[in-house]
Amino acid sequence: MSNKVKRIAVLTTGGDAPGMNAGIRAVVRTALANNIEVLGACNGFKGFVEDDFIPLDQKSVANCIQRGGTILKTTRYPEFKQKSVRAKAAAHLQQRGIETIVVLGGDGSFRGAKILGEEHGIRAIGIPCTIDNDITGTDYTIGFDTACNTALAAIDKIRDTAFSHSNNFLVEVMGHSSGFLAVNVGIAGGAEFILIPKLDFSTEDLLKQIQRRRRLKMGSIIVVAEADEPGRSFKIAKAINPKLEQPYRVCVLGHTQRGGAPTVSDRKIASLMGYHAVLALIDGKDQMMVTYNHGSFEHIAFPEVDSGPRRLIDTTIFSINNILCGL
Ligand code: F6P
Repeated sequence: MSNKVKRIAVLTTGGDAPGMNAGIRAVVRTALANNIEVLGACNGFKGFVEDDFIPLDQKSVANCIQRGGTILKTTRYPEFKQKSVRAKAAAHLQQRGIETIVVLGGDGSFRGAKILGEEHGIRAIGIPCTIDNDITGTDYTIGFDTACNTALAAIDKIRDTAFSHSNNFLVEVMGHSSGFLAVNVGIAGGAEFILIPKLDFSTEDLLKQIQRRRRLKMGSIIVVAEADEPGRSFKIAKAINPKLEQPYRVCVLGHTQRGGAPTVSDRKIASLMGYHAVLALIDGKDQMMVTYNHGSFEHIAFPEVDSGPRRLIDTTIFSINNILCGL
């Protein structure tokens, strides 16, 4: 296959996710192996706009596979929705002879890359990265596994003290409104309830359920998805505690879940996605995201990521959890 790609820009955008560095490393090393130059854009799309690029060679990505965060840094950058801002970005890319980019981020990042491509002909391949695991078209997003393990380690620790004091806890996790993170760590951490926005209990129902279960167990854990209201567990505690003999304490795990060394899976899948992203560009593909489903890597077009059916939680998991918790 003749390779027409001469130069690639790689960037990380949106919320960081553990494993991004493994992805960057794989993009750089796969590109170099195919005689393609790589530039890293600093701070996501903002780097395009501010002409803030660094050349990346074999050495630049050494010793980063085990690190959380992103060596290129990232931003949430709503300014990129403006046409004039994108024109500035495209001008810098064109001045530097960059016609192809690899974007590590979430669906918002792919929307940015899509419109940049439509307006200025920049070819793009995306790598799905978010601890929320809520991107349409892929069962796996980089960072989710690490975030689950970080939250689970915290829940295990909370459980030790909860058991010793017969205390109850509401443990709030990230994961936005999709609830995948909450469900995964709730099941794995033996939580008696998992509250996700779409399936929240009313205060009355929650109290009834708690009172039923309290006969079985002391030191219970409720996992709460933060949804779009970080700290909402405090509100829940305020509503239920006056009616309970044993109140619930709140522990919000917050941004601890976005940091830390990536797990084996996140490093491995990010590495392979980075490799496949570069091969896709060499193969002439454009406006596509790398996916990982049922053990294989494929691609899906950016518009399908946006318009395809949202990934939803199979709600039978909640009744299974009742059985697992002894109800
Ligand atoms: O990146 C995903 C995520 O961590 C969500 O789980 C969370 O709701 C959101 O980002 C928080 O974003 P920020 O750190 O920008 O407030």
